[in-house]
Amino acid sequence: MSPTSPPDSPPDVGVLLPAAGKGERAGDGVPKQFRCIAGVPMLLRAIRPFASHPRVKEIVVALPAEHASAPPDWLSAVVGHHLRVVAGGATRTASVRSALQALDPACGIVLVHDAARPFVSAAEIDAVIAVAEQGAGALPAVPVSDTLKRSDDGRQVTATPSRAGLYRALTPQGFPRALLAAAYAAAGDALDATDDAGLVEAAGGRVVLVPGRATNIKVTTPDDFELAEALARP
Ligand code: CTP
Ligand code: MG
Repeated sequence: MSPTSPPDSPPDVGVLLPAAGKGERAGDGVPKQFRCIAGVPMLLRAIRPFASHPRVKEIVVALPAEHASAPPDWLSAVVGHHLRVVAGGATRTASVRSALQALDPACGIVLVHDAARPFVSAAEIDAVIAVAEQGAGALPAVPVSDTLKRSDDGRQVTATPSRAGLYRALTPQGFPRALLAAAYAAAGDALDATDDAGLVEAAGGRVVLVPGRATNIKVTTPDDFELAEALARP
């Protein structure tokens, strides 16, 4: 792995936070990114580690269009020089695309982080930046530890695929800006990718794994909110 940049490197990292989803699997009617975990909105928890990072120059948050024009007060309070809000789109891909278009051109490295991941560590951010600076795409990943089963109907088991060499892909995923922009230019508007590295791979770019933390969960279901409350406990 490449060495971490010296702390006096210029702040040239831009962060895109897709936060324009509906949170349908989480239920509750409220977009999950606005729900509180131990009293703090999930989106704010996702923003903070980047807002306090010395390399980060700008953060662009993509919100559902109806909220982009009137963000919640706790978000308006941090909008300013380093953080802007844009309207997202119908898919995660469209939301990331809108945020990338709005990002300060001076940001040569771009990180994309799901608003639904409120527990990212500084070590993951640093490792991703270090690889992206060397010219490749980077993502934190965790080796799959459960045995895997395949089922077409959710009941009858049809196969037990090997887990050898399989990883769970987390965020933030980091890229030289030109690499990410080229991947998004090559991807069709109709595409709904769950992962930016996947688009870069499809465009022929190199992508490298860095160690991820199992605590960097994506809050997706009601069970995940229980887990998140436990993780947030001091
Ligand atoms: N996202 C987005 N724009 C969309 C859809 C998703 O910015 N049109 C964001 C979500 O807000 C989230 C991230 O992409 O931060 C990962 O998506 P996911 O966990 O699937 O969130 P939702 O799409 O909101 O949830 P669901 O699929 O259960 O509706
Ligand atoms: Mg979704």
